[in-house]
Amino acid sequence: MNILAGISLKAKRIGIDLGTANIVVWMDGRGIINREPSIVARDISQGHIVAVGNEAFRLLNERPGYYVSSRPLKEGVIADYETTVALIKNIIKKSAKFSFQKPYLMICVPTGITEVEKRAVVDAALEAGAKDTFLVDEPYAAAIGAGLPISAPTGNFIVDIGGGTTNIALISLSGIVASRTIPFAGDKMDEAIRTYVEKKYGLQIGLRIAEMIKMKSGSADLKESVYYKKQEVKGRNCASGLPGKVTIAPQDISFAIQPVLHAIVEAVISVLEQVPPEIAADVITQGIVLTGGGALLHDIAKVIEKKTEIPTAVSADPLDCVVTGIGENLKRIKQLKKEQSTQ
Ligand SMILES: Nc1ncnc2c1ncn2[C@@H]1O[C@H](COP(=O)(O)OP(=O)(O)OP(=O)(O)O)[C@@H](O)[C@H]1O
Ligand SMILES: [Mg+2]
Repeated sequence: MNILAGISLKAKRIGIDLGTANIVVWMDGRGIINREPSIVARDISQGHIVAVGNEAFRLLNERPGYYVSSRPLKEGVIADYETTVALIKNIIKKSAKFSFQKPYLMICVPTGITEVEKRAVVDAALEAGAKDTFLVDEPYAAAIGAGLPISAPTGNFIVDIGGGTTNIALISLSGIVASRTIPFAGDKMDEAIRTYVEKKYGLQIGLRIAEMIKMKSGSADLKESVYYKKQEVKGRNCASGLPGKVTIAPQDISFAIQPVLHAIVEAVISVLEQVPPEIAADVITQGIVLTGGGALLHDIAKVIEKKTEIPTAVSADPLDCVVTGIGENLKRIKQLKKEQSTQ
């Protein structure tokens, strides 16, 4: 590799989908350059951060007794400031290593978070070494990434189902007309599966196992769930305290996650109720577009479509829509800087 080719005199522009479950990084001119789980590994005795992202994931799997994992974001907002700074530092180190200048960062945040929560993201980015930081609403970025005509005078309805949050928004003429963010998404489904398995089978399982069976055999639709495979899961028998295993039917998984799906559908309906009559027809024709990892849950589009009576589809590459949208928005940094200086 020609190292000189990677050296840059100009400040790099980096887009970050700082998700509760995953961090995806975009570099202006290159596209997606990195994808890592949003976790850090801490030394079990001292509590120091020893690794972040992929490296942390590897350590936690290989030596579970030595390290504990911590996730810096909970329900889409910073829960642990120090860990978030470490994660962003890691991103900057990997993506702007041959740059003489600090990079510009653009980071997505859920709609409806407080000014204090927004400020925490900006401060963490600056502390991690950013030259300047810009924030973008997560569903806005998701809609751009999903290829919706957000600047047109039509109604674009987007539902981003992530790990910690579901972001629902109606976007028209490049602005958010109505929106709602709820703390019900993939993580809550995993917790619901874990609780259900413990109650029904007396087996305690880890959240990672719960997530795995959800991804493999989970269906949003109870009726459809019969078509998926049974899963054998290992855990700890609640009565004996010994390791044990049970076979989980796909209907169990579907049944366990119904309350989370119910909350998501209710929230979608509450935003649909706010659609102004002028663009209601567009929403009915264009339909609802699902993004985020939760959109990969089997039959979720079918369930939302049935409950809302609005055509619903999953976007292409739902896990990448937010960062692709941020990447598109990075082109506007000059304009955003101007706007910021006149405020
Ligand atoms: N095939 C699948 N089936 C069901 N769920 C899935 C699948 N693949 C990923 N997920 C879920 O998607 C979630 C992660 O999605 P995503 O990366 O969009 O979240 P995030 O952006 O990190 O979170 P947030 O936006 O809430 O901060 C996890 O809960 C994961 O279990
Ligand atoms: Mg997300």
